[in-house]
Order: sequence, then C-alpha cells, then structure tokens
Amino acid sequence: MTHFTGLSRRGFLFGAAALGGAAFLPTAAAAGPQLELTAMRTQAQLLAQPRPATPVWGYGGDLPGPELRFRQADRLSLHARNDLDTPTSIHWHGLRVPSAMDGVAHLTQPPIPPGGDFHYEFDLPDAGTYWYHPHMGGAEQLGRGLAGALVVEEEVPIRVDRDLVWMLQDWRLEPDGAIASDFDGMHDAMHGGRIGNHVTLNGRPGPRIAVAPNERLRLRIVNAATARIFALDFGALAPVVVALDGQPVAPHAPEDGVVLIGPGMRADIVLDASGGAGTEAPVRDLFRPDGAYEVATLVHGHTPLRARAPDWDMALPPNPLPEPDLAAATRHEVVFHGGMMGQMMMGADAPAMIDQMRQGRMWFINGRAAQGHDDPPLIVAERGSTQLIAMENRTGWWHPIHLHGHVFRIVSRDGRPTVHREWRDTVLMAPKERVEIAFRADNPGDWMLHCHVLAHQAAGMAALIRVADAT
Ligand code: C2O
Ligand code: CU
Repeated sequence: MTHFTGLSRRGFLFGAAALGGAAFLPTAAAAGPQLELTAMRTQAQLLAQPRPATPVWGYGGDLPGPELRFRQADRLSLHARNDLDTPTSIHWHGLRVPSAMDGVAHLTQPPIPPGGDFHYEFDLPDAGTYWYHPHMGGAEQLGRGLAGALVVEEEVPIRVDRDLVWMLQDWRLEPDGAIASDFDGMHDAMHGGRIGNHVTLNGRPGPRIAVAPNERLRLRIVNAATARIFALDFGALAPVVVALDGQPVAPHAPEDGVVLIGPGMRADIVLDASGGAGTEAPVRDLFRPDGAYEVATLVHGHTPLRARAPDWDMALPPNPLPEPDLAAATRHEVVFHGGMMGQMMMGADAPAMIDQMRQGRMWFINGRAAQGHDDPPLIVAERGSTQLIAMENRTGWWHPIHLHGHVFRIVSRDGRPTVHREWRDTVLMAPKERVEIAFRADNPGDWMLHCHVLAHQAAGMAALIRVADAT
C-alpha cells in the first residue's frame, strides 16, 4: 500500500502560520493510487520579488519536485512522463532498487524520449531521506531544476513536532533571472564544477521560517546542487545529526559544529528551537569562509511550545542493511586523478591520460576517464561478497563519490577508523584524503560509482561496478 502525505502529519500546527509558508514543499496530489511525475518546463520565483521569475525545468511544474512520502516496506509505483524536448530518466538516489529501476539512461534503461514515459516500481526496504533526479545530461537537467525529495518514514518515527525537508539547490543566474546555459564549461569541469551564484532552500532564496520556542524539528537536508558543498552553521542552535544519506547514525553533534553536505548527500538533523521568544537564528553556509551567506533564518515566535527543549529519544531504528564481512573482503585500490591545480593538470603525466584530456576528459579513476557505459567495469564482484574499496583523492578538489544500488560503511579516513562507521551512499573526499569504504555486493547488476559534482562526472569521473553470480 502506498502511503504518502502532503504536509508532514505534525505539520498542521504551524504550517499555515509559517512566514510565507517557506518551509513547505509542494506535494504530490493524493488523487489516485497511481503516482505520476512529469518532467516539464515551468517557471519558478527563485529571485526575491519583484524580480522576474526564472524559466526552469521541474517535475509536475513544481520546484523542487513533489515531496514523495512513503512508509518503510511500502512499494513505490510511479509513472514518469517526459514533456521536455530532450530525453530524460529518473534515478532514485540512495535507494536500493533492482538494477532495471535504477534510472541510468543507456545503462539500466533506454532514455525516456520527449513525449515518452516509463514505469518505475520497486520496494522500499529502508527508511530515510532520499531524492530523485535525472540520470542523463545531469549537469544541465539538474542545473535547470529537476530534483525532488523522497522520504521513507520509519514505522515508528522518532518524536518531533515537525518533520521538514530542506532541499538545497544552487543556480547560476543571469542578471535577468534566466539560468546561464554554460553547462559544459571546460573551466568548471577542470575545477570545482559549475558553482552557481544563487542558492535556494525549497526553491526560495533565504526563506524566513517560523518556529515556536522549544519546538523540536527534524530537518531532512538534501544537497541537490550540482557542485556546491554546504557547511551549515546554526549559530546558537545545536543541531544533532541522526541520519546520514538516510541511514541512521548514533545521534551526535556535527564535527566542528557545522553540518557538511556535498552534492547528492543528505543529513537528517534534530534541531530544538532554543533561541528564545522573538529571536532570529540565521542558518549560514560557511564552506567558503570568505563568502558566508544565509541559507535560511529561523524566526522564533513569542509563544513557547513548552518550557524547555524536550528530552525525547533521537535514535532511529537501523535499516536492514547487509553487514560487510571485513575479514573476508576483497580489497581494491582506487585512485582519483585529474583536474587543475594552479596551472598544473594533477597527476596526468602518463601519455594515455594526456590523450584523454585532448578529448575533454579531465578526471581519471585508476588512470581511465569514463567514456561511456560500454567501458569495462572497474570492479567485478561476486554477488554476496564483501568489497572494500580504498580510495585515494590525489587531486586538489573535493569529490562526493556516490555508489548506486548499495549502501556502504565508511571504515576509515586517512588510515584512522571512523567513529561512527557510518553507512552512506555518497562519501565526500577532501583534497588528498584517503577513505576506505566497505559493502556487501548483494544487488546484481551494473552500478555506477561516480563523482556527484556533475561536471566532474561528465568529464570522466565515473566507473562501473558489476555485481554478478559466480559463473
Ligand atoms: Cu544522484 Cu548517479 O546519482
Ligand atoms: Cu569530483
């Protein structure tokens, strides 16, 4: 049975009173059993009024796309339609779906042509915060707005007053509000990707969000930007991280006090509005310390919801993920090269790499820039085996590395075991960092491993992992 609600069940109390309603996403109409999602051209008020609306691409005419909500163990059944004049597909980022439902155009399905459609149907074994986006011409299709959140609620969710999705997007806008069309810029591809000049939260710039003093929020933060990394600072408020990429983690204060989220990644935080009646709490992105700006402002009302912050349990129940067996793991060394550092191409000394660079392929995984889905797989894993991938970032840039079809544990960083051994589907690697991830390769098919800075992916930073039964 599909269950999906528009407003979160606890959203009523304050929903209508939220300043400008900025905290709420458009939601799919619960009209019938059949969900539909149509990629189309539309307009969105990304700039503050009275500045002009921006022509964007959105799902169902909304931006971001409808917030799809299900309950754990539900089955998603959804009809995708393409009203664009270019082919598209839908990938369900972070969900462990069968390969045929993974939405990677040309690899797991044919592209959905203009005017065409595709039916997606799969089970939802894991609760958590996920999202959907095209997996085709990604830098442009996401850069023009195609993205939405998908929430799978726990059978017994943790207690909060409101459960909200915060979808972050980054736009490169011209002065007239139009989206700049430079999606394949070489400079962006060789550096940090196509960083924009305008950030929105749920489609609005710097929304003011009403909270009641001592109200408890669960914020499901999704980074749907194609290149920008966020380091969110909540000022005097103290966020507690309870899930990463949808997967429960022991509740903890974020490292250095900021919630660091690379493209594609999610963080669920519990936030008590402890700012005091009538106060404002800015939420700022400090990733570029010289360019800090406000992503949103929490505006405390005058009537406290309770005398002090609640002491309700924050720990989420674990998902049924297959535990990697490290003692029996097959180990792989995977090295990332490429991009520019000053005037230098990093690590691209081998003649083979220089040849690839001449064809616009700027990023390399073990010396090879992806060309297409016919490339030989980087790793072939026997179904059920544990794979340990030791990744090394020999570039001068950050890379959020995403694996399809599986969720992995982050075992170590720079040789030190991680504190939380967190489960993730995307790991953010700092320049020069080494990270070990491990997972049980239990989902048969060809799965992408790629950088979620989409200009990096397009310039070669992608590979395939094939999971197959032993022959
Ligand atoms: Cu969020 Cu391969 O994608
Ligand atoms: Cu990258």
